[in-house]
Amino acid sequence: MAKKGRILSGHRPTGRLHLGHLEGTLRTWAELQDDYECFFEIADWHALTTDFEQTATLRENIEQVAIDWLASGLDPERSVLFVQSDVKEHAELHLLLSMITPVTWLERCPTYKEQRDQIGEAKTAGYGFLGYPVLQAADIIIYKADTVPIGQDQLPHLELSREIARRFNNFYGEVFPEPQAMLSEFSVVPGTDGRKMSKSYDNTLNLADTPEEIAQKVRKMFTDPTKIYKGDPGHPDECPVFVYHGMYNPERTEPIKAACESGDLGCVDCKAEATEKLLAALAPIMERRGELEADRDTVRAVLAQGATQAREVAAATMAEVRAAMKVGG
Ligand code: TRP
Repeated sequence: MAKKGRILSGHRPTGRLHLGHLEGTLRTWAELQDDYECFFEIADWHALTTDFEQTATLRENIEQVAIDWLASGLDPERSVLFVQSDVKEHAELHLLLSMITPVTWLERCPTYKEQRDQIGEAKTAGYGFLGYPVLQAADIIIYKADTVPIGQDQLPHLELSREIARRFNNFYGEVFPEPQAMLSEFSVVPGTDGRKMSKSYDNTLNLADTPEEIAQKVRKMFTDPTKIYKGDPGHPDECPVFVYHGMYNPERTEPIKAACESGDLGCVDCKAEATEKLLAALAPIMERRGELEADRDTVRAVLAQGATQAREVAAATMAEVRAAMKVGG
């Protein structure tokens, strides 16, 4: 069957993936596998741009991301799942692209300033961090990917990838297609404190959590602060637990809304029902996760196979790049 195009997307191995990743990204990627030729990358060099000091957990984090991906339905029979540092061609292309990328483009990138303010000078002063978008451009265009599913926050990087590809083509001839962003549908999963679910807020429900941990976290979840006693009228539209009902218990949202507003339904019971439905939805993922945790050889074999497949494509592009630029290789 003819595919609609080629996708590359990726994620830094920064720890356990959570419900926000599952609903915002992974389910979409899993669906795209039928229609596109997909490359999904665990971007370990990108993680090093800021977390270069503590690498003790890097290898384990890479495998944890691979396990979360496989458990969520990314399928090595249909997609190439690989680790960035297994494909050295990315480093060569990054070097060559760094020659044609003006430093001012990188300094002007909004994520550069934002991240420096957010995570501080010590972690973001490196040469590698400034070049983050150049490495990301190399990741994408080395596969000649035309479609990049990403979140809004990654748009400036994709714009730079397009500009870098265009500049290369102008200097050396048409080698690269300009990649297009495919914005994931706006879906913000609230965390246990009601803010957007994010590791940095410490409010996540992780795919690696046990059912007991999930139940415990939901029991402590923030709800409508004006509903103190069971009989108090609640405001479901301002309650993150109600968002979970919308996602995992859609046929019951109307009666729950009414019972919360009238005071007939208290938060304890409401949370218990949300937990039950959430756990039912997560059950197949958790089960698959458990199997993979116990079978690391399979996980490593998937990544090794992905590396071989990715390298083949990357090597072919690099042969073209070297010929176009008249450099050796
Ligand atoms: N920068 C992305 C992030 O932090 C990860 C990433 C690396 C990526 N290379 C990529 C995403 C290529 C899309 C395409 O989430």
